[in-house]
This record gives sequence, C-alpha cells and structure tokens, in this order.
Amino acid sequence: MNICCIGAGYVGGPTMAMIAYKCPDIQVTVVDLNQKRIDAWNSDHLPVYEPGLDEVVKAARGRNLHFSTEVNAAIKAADMIFIAVNTPTKTFGTGAGRAANVEFVEKCARQIAEASSGHKIVVEKSTLPVRTAEAVKRILENSNNGSTFDVLSNPEFLAEGTAVQDLLNPDRVLIGGESKAAIGKLVDVYAHWVPRERILTTNLWSSELSKLTANAFLAQRVSSINAISALCEATGADVDEVAKAIGTDSRIGPKFLKSSVGFGGSCFQKDILNLVYLCEHFGLREVAEYWEQVIRMNDYQKRRFCERMVRTMFNTVSNKQIAIWGFAFKKDTNDTRESAAIYVCRDLLNERAKLKIYDPQVSEEQVRRDLIEVFSYATGTITDQERALIADHVSVVSSAEEAARGSHAIAVMTEWDAFKKLNYESILQSMYRPAFVFDGRNLLNHKHLTSLGFEVHAIGKTT
Ligand code: NAD
Ligand code: UDX
Repeated sequence: MNICCIGAGYVGGPTMAMIAYKCPDIQVTVVDLNQKRIDAWNSDHLPVYEPGLDEVVKAARGRNLHFSTEVNAAIKAADMIFIAVNTPTKTFGTGAGRAANVEFVEKCARQIAEASSGHKIVVEKSTLPVRTAEAVKRILENSNNGSTFDVLSNPEFLAEGTAVQDLLNPDRVLIGGESKAAIGKLVDVYAHWVPRERILTTNLWSSELSKLTANAFLAQRVSSINAISALCEATGADVDEVAKAIGTDSRIGPKFLKSSVGFGGSCFQKDILNLVYLCEHFGLREVAEYWEQVIRMNDYQKRRFCERMVRTMFNTVSNKQIAIWGFAFKKDTNDTRESAAIYVCRDLLNERAKLKIYDPQVSEEQVRRDLIEVFSYATGTITDQERALIADHVSVVSSAEEAARGSHAIAVMTEWDAFKKLNYESILQSMYRPAFVFDGRNLLNHKHLTSLGFEVHAIGKTT
C-alpha cells in the first residue's frame, strides 16, 4: 500500500506521521506546494509545534514517511490519496465571510484526475461543506486517461496541542463512503492501531456533516459558559464554580466548560460560519441564526475583555505599557489562527496602549503579520497610521518577566503552564502600581497574587 497526502499543514503532517509510525508496511508521502514547509518537515525544526510530534516524525521519516514537493509523482505512485489542504472562510464573492473556500480542494481533485492512472481511492481529510464529495467525484470522473476513483470522507478530529495523543488514541475514526471495498481498505489502515469498534462508517454526507456538527457543538459549549461568565461578573457568582457544579451532572459532563477570553483556532469559527451558510443556502433561516449566535457570543467575549481592562485602568490605557502573555490560540501549539489575543491586542492598540508581547512558541514575525492582517481585515488595506501604531506600540520580547517589567498590567491570553510557575514577587517589584492582572484564562493562583499585592481581574469572577 502506498499513500499520498496533499497538504503538509497542521492536519496532513501529524496525521500522516502517525499512519507511517503505526504502519511500517505502508509507504507515506506528504506533498505540499510550499517548499519552505516541506524543508521544515525534513529538518530538525518541524513547522508544527506539538508535544511528542518530533519523536513520531523522527521514528518514521526516511523509513516509510517522506515529505516532498513532487505532487504529481506522489499521486502517480499512490493507491490512496488524502486531501488535507486548507479550506478557509471565503473572503470574496458569493458567501464571502461565511462559506468555505473549496478552491484548493477542487485544484487537488483536478490534479489527481490529471496525474492518475489505474484505480485510486481519494480521501477527503479537509473539513468540507456537505456534498463536496459530489463535486470531487464529478471532477475525477471527467479525467480522460481511463483512471477510476472511489471517494471517501474521513474528517479529522484532532485538537492542536494534543494532536499526537488524539491520533494515538482517538475517540473514534469516521469514514463515509459508498464503496464497501474502498471503506474496507481505509478501515484496515486505521485498524493497525485503533480498535475496530471505534472505526465508524457512514454515508458520505453524514460523515461530512458530522465534522461541522462536532465543532459547532464544542464551540457552543464554550460560548454557553462564556455567556454565563458575564452574568457571574454581574452577580458575584464564580464561573469556575458554576462550571464544576453543572459539569458533574453526567448528562452535561465536565469538558469544554472552561470559560476564557474567547475561543480561537482555525476551525471553530470557520466551520460554524460554513454551517450557517449551508443552512441559509437550504432556506433554514432559524437554524442558521441559532448557530450564528455562538460566534456572536465569542466576539462579545473578546470585545468585553478589552473594555473591562480599559474601564478598570481608570478609563485610559493610552501610552500605558501592558504585558501580553501568550499569543497562540491555546497552549502547546505555535498556531495563532483566530487567536483571541489578536483581537484583544487590536482593541488595546486602538486605545493607544503600548504592548509587550511574549509567547514561548510564536515568533515576532508571526505576531506582526497577524496584527497587520487584523487591521487590514475590514477594508482589505492597512492605513499608514495603523502600520505606524503597530511599529511604535508593539514589542515582542523573549520572556514573561521581560514583558511585565515596566508594565501597568499583565493580560494572560494563553494558558501556557509555564506562566503558573513564575516568581510573582519579583514580577510585582518590576511593575507600576496598582499592578493589574487580567487573567483571560483563569490560569493563575488569584488568591496568592492578591496576597502579594496584585489587583486581579478574572473571567466570570468579581474582584
Ligand atoms: P494548513 O493551512 O496548516 O495546511 C494546508 C496545507 O495545504 C498548506 O501547507 C498549503 O500550502 C497546502 N496546499 C494548499 N493547496 C495545495 C495544493 N493544491 N497542492 C499542494 N498543497 C496545497 O491547514 P490545516 O490546519 O492542516 O487544515 C487542513 C484542513 O483540515 C482544513 O480543511 C481544516 O478545516 C481541517 N482540520 C484542521 C484541524 C486543525 O486542528 N488545524 C483539525 C481538523 C480538521
Ligand atoms: C478543534 C476541535 O476540538 C477538534 O476536534 C477539531 O478537529 C479542530 O477544532 P482546536 O481548535 O485545535 O480543535 O482546539 P480546541 O481544544 O478545540 O480549542 C479551541 C478553542 O477553544 C481554543 O481557543 C481553546 O482555548 C478554547 N476553549 C476550549 C475554551 O476557551 N474553553 C474550553 O473549555 C475549551
């Protein structure tokens, strides 16, 4: 068996590394157009930071795991081709701001149709709108070289930061398709390490829709607890206590009830918008509005975090230095896509605050790129003043302590474990008074910080 995966990103890289690691009898080639990314996968500094990933890649790379930019050659040699390219929200034309841009998936399908010979199994790994497989099939069927295809949907449920564990021990693997033989071949791949009873098979459309639905349900839980956090701040209830109290009800369960500055990541918002667009497309207005509220609540949560900071700091943060701790959208990843930190930083910069940003895994280049992009979002361009604001008011530093030094406040944006273990007495000495802490993750020991002399403001708690 020979597998090719098109797309060497956060999904294609780790997923294929795990297949190669667990299936030494299968040759796996991951291809991408991005030469820099492929070079990084072939180096000691992988483009994706994930705990445990280095070991998995090192064990299989060169043996039966290969990274290359030779897309056509890899397609030709493969029996099974995964499509794991990005499917971002459309930024132009019909459905802009909502629908998924499936342009890259279509390009892959066309390239597979052209480069193939014989029979191939094509597997959708990317998250796609329901019925995309139909379009993929039609493109493949129109290949003029006599090749034949089966199309399967095999959405990926890994979460960043825990990708290796999620891939090693998935709650389930989902495979949708029509051909029993093709489904059987993909089941056999996963069955190298996943118990067969955890490999679910469905029809194509259920599989495609289950992925969007799973992300919508998970994000909805976060927005639900974040909605309650606002009420906690108004009433004196404590959101962590409420989450514990409701999470012990076995019908509700404890996971995804951690109130925060807002969910981020490349998937939740994009996939819910995609779901909303689909519902609108099928004339289901009430259903679309229901799910859209999850996004609105998340926008509100990010916005009100900055508003609370400004209000607390005597209604002005202009030219006040603020330490931003964490820029990634969650801990244990270098990914910043849709990170709440980006929006909070934008709002603080609009208030003319001076930001000193630290994240253990995110580069200065990435931070600046994200800030320029968020200012450009509404109009497609960034003004000279906004560019100057970012240049003059943002510095990116190499430790949390350095960010705090000379600051009026610390804003915790990402729940990195290392932030819990710092010497807060010396941090306090290096800051202006009152020394504010705005804990956007309810991560730190608030009692201890208050006893030292910090003024702590946390999500869903009164001070
Ligand atoms: P990504 O942007 O990290 O990676 C996609 C890669 O595809 C890029 O490196 C890009 O260069 C490459 N690519 C695009 N078009 C190509 C083409 N025609 N030929 C070759 N390479 C091409 O994206 P990602 O985070 O890995 O997500 C991929 C898909 O998986 C998306 O549909 C996403 O919704 C889904 N997904 C992501 C996650 C996650 O945690 N990131 C989890 C589950 C599902
Ligand atoms: C998500 C899904 O969990 C995963 O199954 C899917 O394949 C891709 O999308 P990911 O976005 O990588 O994964 O991370 P996840 O752990 O779901 O967190 C998403 C966001 O929600 C993060 O910003 C996280 O900090 C936030 N979150 C999560 C909370 O604020 N509170 C919680 O209780 C859980």
